[in-house]
Amino acid sequence: MYIIGQEEIDAMARVVNSKALFRYGLGHECERFEQRYAAYLGAKHFSLAASGSYALTAAMIGLGLGPGDEVLVPAHTYMASATSVLAAGAIPVIVDINESITIDPAAIEASIGPHTRAIIAVHMWGTTCDLDAIMDIARRRKLFVIEDACQAVGGSYKGRKLGTIGDIGAFSFNFYKNMSAGEGGGVVTSDDAVVKRVNCAIDPCHAFWTGRDEDSKPFAGNGARASEFMGAVLNVQLDRIDGIIEAMRRERDTILAGIQDLKSLGLRAAPLNSREFDCATNVFLTLPTTEAADVFVKTFPSVIAGKTGRHTYTEWDQVLMGMGAAHPLMNPYNMPANAECRKNYSKDMCARSLEILDRTILVPTHPLHTKQEIEDIIHNIKAATRVALGHVKSGEVDVRQAAAVDATKYDLKVVAW
Ligand SMILES: Cc1ncc(COP(=O)(O)O)c(C=O)c1O
Repeated sequence: MYIIGQEEIDAMARVVNSKALFRYGLGHECERFEQRYAAYLGAKHFSLAASGSYALTAAMIGLGLGPGDEVLVPAHTYMASATSVLAAGAIPVIVDINESITIDPAAIEASIGPHTRAIIAVHMWGTTCDLDAIMDIARRRKLFVIEDACQAVGGSYKGRKLGTIGDIGAFSFNFYKNMSAGEGGGVVTSDDAVVKRVNCAIDPCHAFWTGRDEDSKPFAGNGARASEFMGAVLNVQLDRIDGIIEAMRRERDTILAGIQDLKSLGLRAAPLNSREFDCATNVFLTLPTTEAADVFVKTFPSVIAGKTGRHTYTEWDQVLMGMGAAHPLMNPYNMPANAECRKNYSKDMCARSLEILDRTILVPTHPLHTKQEIEDIIHNIKAATRVALGHVKSGEVDVRQAAAVDATKYDLKVVAW
């Protein structure tokens, strides 16, 4: 969440004053947001849910994935990408990422087995996956693509909105996301049959609230209905998102231009799959070694992608321990239908990903950064690179305690993860 204020307060006050706190039959904020966001994405349907985690589960259910199916999941993502597969009864198969820190198309191709039915393309940290390559593999190998765009609200891939290029997309609107109501999420699809299953997964009573139709085949979904407060806040946030993304793209491009000469010292900008259109919530830098990355972040406090504590498969305890559900009989790892699926995980199974992640640095951008703050960031990256790559000792460089990375200045979190 980057900006929140009086407009959100006014929107929530309107909901309170109307006393229409329930989305069906009373309030209109959720429905209005669903229609506006679907139009913004250029898709037919958007279904709000209580969280991005549940949106992902509803997406799996919407596509009919379940026991007997394997879903390819990148080694670097928040654990909900993998646990949502288990919540649908299917098995996540963990696949390497590449230096773009998104799923590696070559590793996807190498990981497809007889039971693979889908790929989760996670657009991490506001960047995008290599969707051309992923869609090509998916079409050739008859796999579904689920876009996890939870960290990439407002972003596009080569001009098309993220979430709408694969078969289905999921978003999160939690506190750390580009557009936020504190919590929230949702599913985008243009498929009329899939959206019915998604809506039933989000609210088993959906058909009662909105009217039964002859073709609906209800099942026991979980409850993850959105609140009118969420809808009201998101309606305000949606008006701002494009300006926020544009400001961050400008900042990212200014920083990349300002540090170009560091290539000769060994610092590289990580590859971007759709630079012109992604969210630019971070500048990604690739150091030659993990040791250099450690020194870099000690000199200029920033984030090592592999060391956030929750975005790497080695931290997904439930998956590594085979605890796919609360009850052993509902645990996909124990289900006879999954007997032939691949479910042997180990902490070193994607060593290549770990090595890349441990030398990839994220420097967060922010839509309210001033020109001076952006200059400070450039200065600090230069200083930290010279220390990290041994060109000077740490005491010899002036690392400004940049206001640019001071989240408290705005009373906001700067990093969107
Ligand atoms: C890539 C990714 N997928 C899914 C989620 C789950 O979203 P939520 O926290 O809204 O459940 C997150 C949230 O951090 C995420 O970053």
